[in-house]
Amino acid sequence: MYIRGLYLRNFRNIQEASFQFHPHFNLLVGANAQGKTNVIEAAHFLAFGRSFRVSDFRGLICWGQDEGIIRCELEIPAGSEERKAHLTVDKKRMFKNGKPATPNQFESMPLVLFAPEEILLLKDSPQARRDYIDGFLSKIVPGYSKNLANYKRALLQRNKLLKDENVSNSQKQDQMVFWEAPLLENGLLLVKERILWISRLNEKLVAHYNIIAGNTQKKAQFLYEPNANPENFSELQQKRREEEIERQTTLVGPHRDDLRGVLNGEPIVSFGSQGEMRTFTLSLKLSEITLFEEVLGRHPIFLLDDVASELDENRNAYFFAFLKNYKGQLFATATSLSLFPKGILEPFSAWRVEDGKATPI
Ligand SMILES: Nc1ncnc2c1ncn2[C@@H]1O[C@H](COP(=O)(O)OP(=O)(O)O)[C@@H](O)[C@H]1O
Ligand SMILES: [Mg+2]
Repeated sequence: MYIRGLYLRNFRNIQEASFQFHPHFNLLVGANAQGKTNVIEAAHFLAFGRSFRVSDFRGLICWGQDEGIIRCELEIPAGSEERKAHLTVDKKRMFKNGKPATPNQFESMPLVLFAPEEILLLKDSPQARRDYIDGFLSKIVPGYSKNLANYKRALLQRNKLLKDENVSNSQKQDQMVFWEAPLLENGLLLVKERILWISRLNEKLVAHYNIIAGNTQKKAQFLYEPNANPENFSELQQKRREEEIERQTTLVGPHRDDLRGVLNGEPIVSFGSQGEMRTFTLSLKLSEITLFEEVLGRHPIFLLDDVASELDENRNAYFFAFLKNYKGQLFATATSLSLFPKGILEPFSAWRVEDGKATPI
């Protein structure tokens, strides 16, 4: 699967642009703040139905305009598929082959992003790590995103009830129980998949990390810390009801899970160097790719934002070899064509991006 064409209109600083991509390597070059990452962001949006940079899609519409469009043509085994996002100030509409689609229906496009912001994954709030792992699982486990949506819907309702000031505590006690069955049913599935796949991701992670870091004998792991596990989920739900009424929110379930990056068991955010954190995130991304290949038998689309800032001497060799041998479609951005090592990303198509306009070079 690869993106054959991309059309953008009033998307960020891009008034109108149309790309015919190379099935293999695509390079976007240009000075800072010209719109390179915006192109990457648009491709990512059509795989996840959300931006990796802003939580509110309205930020994606070109300032001063009231609608924006992202459309792509995907080459898939069965032929081709058109995906479109139509963004207006009051709504985000998604379409697949011209028909309205939910974000769940966009999961069939495996895509891995490696951007400078990714290092924040280790430092940010637990929510960012949950979103990351959910994004990955939605691509690899059929039905995962549906379970997640069902879970979130029940959670929203239950929290709304717990916050409702017009409902007495005893009424809350009676009604909150109603939402516990869907939370348990969907929540258990989420937790089980997270346990299974994070463990598989970790097998790859430790191997990639060791190679990139040059056999440091440091064991890199992304540890899963479930708020409730399959054994105690239901029991905790019952136990914490009173506390939940008091705190007006649901305290049990995978919406409160966390993940912790560790090196030899020590949290990398507290004890790791900047370089170790970069190596960790890069290894994590390569692990995702390896798993997609193994499990789906397909190469994900690989978005590599800001090549230069991500690479240093030590990690170059292995990563470049990985890229050179990469069989999937790659999009990479950099400030200059010379930052792409010669002969590695061949053959390729390239564009110069300047003030929201892209010209083939
Ligand atoms: N909604 C928007 N409307 C118009 N311009 C925007 C919008 N959001 C961001 N921009 C502009 O886009 C540019 C950043 O684009 P970006 O793709 O991040 O640049 P880079 O080439 O460095 O990757 C900035 O000039 C920013 O002001
Ligand atoms: Mg950028």
